[in-house]
Amino acid sequence: MCGIVGYIGKQKAAPILIEGLKRLEYRGYDSAGISIIGKNKITTIKSVGKVSSLEDKIGGKSIAGNVGIAHTRWATHGKPSDKNSHPHGDCKGNIFLVHNGIIENYIELKSSLAKKGHKFKSETDSEVIVHLIEEFNKKLDFKNAVLEALKLIKGTYGLAIINKKEPEKIIAARLGSPLVLGIGGDEYVIASDASAVVRHTNQVIYLEDGEVAVIEKDNYEVTDIKDKSKNKKITKLDWSIEEAEKQGFDHFMLKEIFEQPKAIEDATRGRLVVSEGTAKLGGLRDVADKLRKLDRIIIVSCGTSYYAGLVGEYMLEEYAGIPVEVEYASEFRYRKPILDEKTAVLAISQSGETADTLEAIREGNNKGAITLGIVNTVGSTIARETTAGVYNHAGPEIGVASTKAFTSQLSVLILLTLLLGRQRQMSYVMGKRIASEMKKIPKQVEEILSQSKEIKKIAKKYLKYKNILYLGRKYNEPIALEGALKIKEISYIHAEGYPSGEMKHGPIALIDENFPSVFVVPKDSVYEKNISGMQEIKARGGKIIAIATEGDKEIKKHADDVIYIPKTLEMLTPLLSVVPLQLLAYYVGTGLGYDVDKPRNLAKSVTVE
Ligand code: G6P
Repeated sequence: MCGIVGYIGKQKAAPILIEGLKRLEYRGYDSAGISIIGKNKITTIKSVGKVSSLEDKIGGKSIAGNVGIAHTRWATHGKPSDKNSHPHGDCKGNIFLVHNGIIENYIELKSSLAKKGHKFKSETDSEVIVHLIEEFNKKLDFKNAVLEALKLIKGTYGLAIINKKEPEKIIAARLGSPLVLGIGGDEYVIASDASAVVRHTNQVIYLEDGEVAVIEKDNYEVTDIKDKSKNKKITKLDWSIEEAEKQGFDHFMLKEIFEQPKAIEDATRGRLVVSEGTAKLGGLRDVADKLRKLDRIIIVSCGTSYYAGLVGEYMLEEYAGIPVEVEYASEFRYRKPILDEKTAVLAISQSGETADTLEAIREGNNKGAITLGIVNTVGSTIARETTAGVYNHAGPEIGVASTKAFTSQLSVLILLTLLLGRQRQMSYVMGKRIASEMKKIPKQVEEILSQSKEIKKIAKKYLKYKNILYLGRKYNEPIALEGALKIKEISYIHAEGYPSGEMKHGPIALIDENFPSVFVVPKDSVYEKNISGMQEIKARGGKIIAIATEGDKEIKKHADDVIYIPKTLEMLTPLLSVVPLQLLAYYVGTGLGYDVDKPRNLAKSVTVE
C-alpha cells in the first residue's frame, strides 16, 4: 500500500524511478510523484492518478540528477490530489521524503510544529515527518535529524528521504512497512519491494523494523534508530525481470491466470511424493516434532488468501483430522484468542506484508503458539516473523486481483494436509490417491484454460447485470465466495458469495430474471443437494451459469450456461472450479472496459490496518 523507490548512482535517476514506480503501481495508484536532487535545487513533480499521468506531466523533459526518490500512493489521510501527493517537502524546499504507512500521532506533532512556525501544504500524516526532520536539522546533521525525528513518531513507516544540504545521500527507514535495498555495482535502489530492484541487481538487503539505512554513492550503512551499527546479510533474489512482465498478455491478471499450471507445478515440485503418498516440506522440518503434537490450527489471512484458508479447513479436518478455525486476520488480535504451544497459527499471505495478517502472527508469537506461514514473497516480513513456513514459489503476482497465488496456496494446503494427515490417521492408500490425483491438476487446469474463448462468450451475456449470486457447497463454498470477490473487485458488479444450502434462508428473496447465479456444482458428495438449489432458482426465473464436471449432461437441464471442469477428487475440485470463475470475472471486467490490473480503490498489498 503505497510504493516507494529511491535511486542513487551514476545514471540519471528520473527514468529509473519512473520505471520502478510502474513496477510498484499495484501497491496504489491514486497519485504519483518524484523528487530529484539537481545542482542547487530539488525538482519535484506530482500528479493525481496513475504513474502514466506523472509521465505525461514530465512530458519527455529530461530532469538532471543522479539522486532521487519517488512514490505511488494509496490514499489514507487526505483525498488524492496534487498537494496530498508525495514527495512532501519541508518549509524551505531542502528536504523531501516519501512515506508508506500511517503516522498515528500526526495531529499532535502537526500542531506543535505549526506553533514553531512550520507551514503545512497537505492534509497528510506524512508531511509532519519532513517538518520534524527540518526542525532537528537546524542543529543536527541530516542523519541525526532523521534519527531524532523517528524517536518521536508513533505509527508505521517505510521512508526514503533526501536533503539538498547533503545531496549525495538517501536515508531510508523502516517500521512496519517493507523496504528492500538493492546493491548494484555502482548504484543503489531502495524500494518497497524487490520488483522495483530486480532490473538493476539481484543482490538485496531486507531492512528490518527499527532499522535506518544511510545510502551514499559508493557505500551504505545500516543502524538502528539509536545509531547502533547493524550487520546485514545480502540475499540473492531468485526471480527475473521477465517474470514480472506481461509477456504478450493484455493484462497481468490474464497472464497470471494462464500461469497457474506452472504455479501449481512449482508449488508441488520436489515436495509431492506420490510413491510414499505424502509430502516433504523442507521449511517445516525444524518444527516436525511440534507438528506431530499439534491439536489445533488457526488460519489467519485476508481477502483471497482467507478463502484459501477456508478450503484448507475442509481439507485438514477431513484428511488430517486436526480441528481448524479460519479467522479474518483483522479480527483475530482484537479478540482474546486462547493459544498454547499445541496450537499453530498459520498465516496465508501472497505478499507476506499484509498488516492485519502480520499483527495476527505477532499475537500468536506473543502468546506462545507455533506460528507458520504459507507465503509467496520470499524474505517478506511474515515469512521472517513466523517460526517456520512454506513458500509458494508462484513467482511475482502483479495483478491486484489474486489468481495464481490462490491456486498455489491451495496446492501448499494440500501438501500440508498430506504431511499432517500421514503423521496421523491417513492411510498410505489414501495418501497415494490424493498425491497421484494432485499430480494431474496442472494438465487439468490447462484443459480449462483452453476453453477461455467459450468462457469469454458466456461472460458477454452477463455484462448487463448489476447483481450476481455465487453459490457452492462443502469444498466449493469458499470458491463461490472467491468467485464473487473476483467479479466485484474488477467489474464493480455487486456479487454475493453464499453457501448454496443457506440460499433458501435469505438470498433466494433476491432472485428474479435480473439476478443471475453462478452455481459451482461438480459431481461430488453434495451434488444432489446443489441440484435442488438450482431448481429452486430456476422456479423463480433466475438465470444460472453452472461450473460442472465433464460428462455431466444432466446439468444442462438446470442451467442456462455450463462450463465444464475435468473430474478429480472432491477435495481437489477447488483447484479447478476457481479457474473458470477467474476467467469469467476477467472477461466481464474487460468487457465493461475496466483496467482489471488496477481496480479502483484497491491495492495489492495492504500494509495498513
Ligand atoms: C488485498 C488484495 C487481495 C489479497 C489480500 C490479502 O486486499 O487486494 O487480492 O487477497 O490483500 O493479501 P495477501 O498478500 O496477504 O495474500
